[in-house]
Amino acid sequence: MRSLYEPGEDTELLITQVEKLAYGDVLDMGTGTGMLVKAALKNKNVKSVTGADINPYAVEYCKKTIKGAKFVQSDLFENIKGKFDVITFNPPYLPEEKKEDLETALMTSGGYKGYELLIKFLKQAKEHLKKDGFILTVFSTLTGPEEVFKEAKELGYDAEILDSKKLFFEKLYCVKFKLAH
Ligand SMILES: C[S@@+](CC[C@H](N)C(=O)[O-])C[C@H]1O[C@@H](n2cnc3c(N)ncnc32)[C@H](O)[C@@H]1O
Repeated sequence: MRSLYEPGEDTELLITQVEKLAYGDVLDMGTGTGMLVKAALKNKNVKSVTGADINPYAVEYCKKTIKGAKFVQSDLFENIKGKFDVITFNPPYLPEEKKEDLETALMTSGGYKGYELLIKFLKQAKEHLKKDGFILTVFSTLTGPEEVFKEAKELGYDAEILDSKKLFFEKLYCVKFKLAH
C-alpha cells in the first residue's frame, strides 16, 4: 500500500495534547507519516518513542524521514512488546463505505459501524499500559461515541474529553482513557 494518510484536523487535535501531556515511553499506534511521533519527540518529558503501523510503507517512510524513534510494522499490538506510559492512536474511525477502495479504507474505516477497530485497540492496549499510563485518541460523532464510551467503561477505563472540534458533517472528540485502579 503506497498511499499514506494526509494529516488532518484529527491529527492536529492529538498533536496539541501530545505536546502538552506526553511523557516517558510513548507508543504511537497507526503512525502514518509519523506526525504524532514528531510531536512526542519535541516534548522534553518523553524518554522514548515507538511508532507502529499495519502499513509497511508507512513504517518504511517514517524510518527514512524521522530520526530518534523506533518504527515497527504491526497489526495493532501483534508485534509490540512491553509497556508504555502514553499510547496515542488516531485510528480509522469512520463507518465502512461500500464504494471505498481498500487502501483508503485502511486509513479511514474502523469497521462496519466505525468503532470496531478502536474497541479492539482498547482491549489490547490494557496489557501495554504502565501503571498510571494513559491513551490519547480521537474519534467522531460518526464513530458511535456512546458505544465507545460504554465499551471503554466495561473494559475498566475512565474517559476524559480533552478537546473537541466541530466540522461540517461531524464533531471530533479528543479523549484520554486511563485504567481505573
Ligand atoms: C487516520 S490514519 C492516522 C495517521 C497518523 N497517525 C495521523 O494522525 O496523521 C490511521 C492509521 O492507522 C493505520 N492502521 C489501520 N489499521 C491498523 C491496524 N490494525 N494496526 C495498526 N495500524 C493501523 C493506517 O495505516 C493509518 O496509517
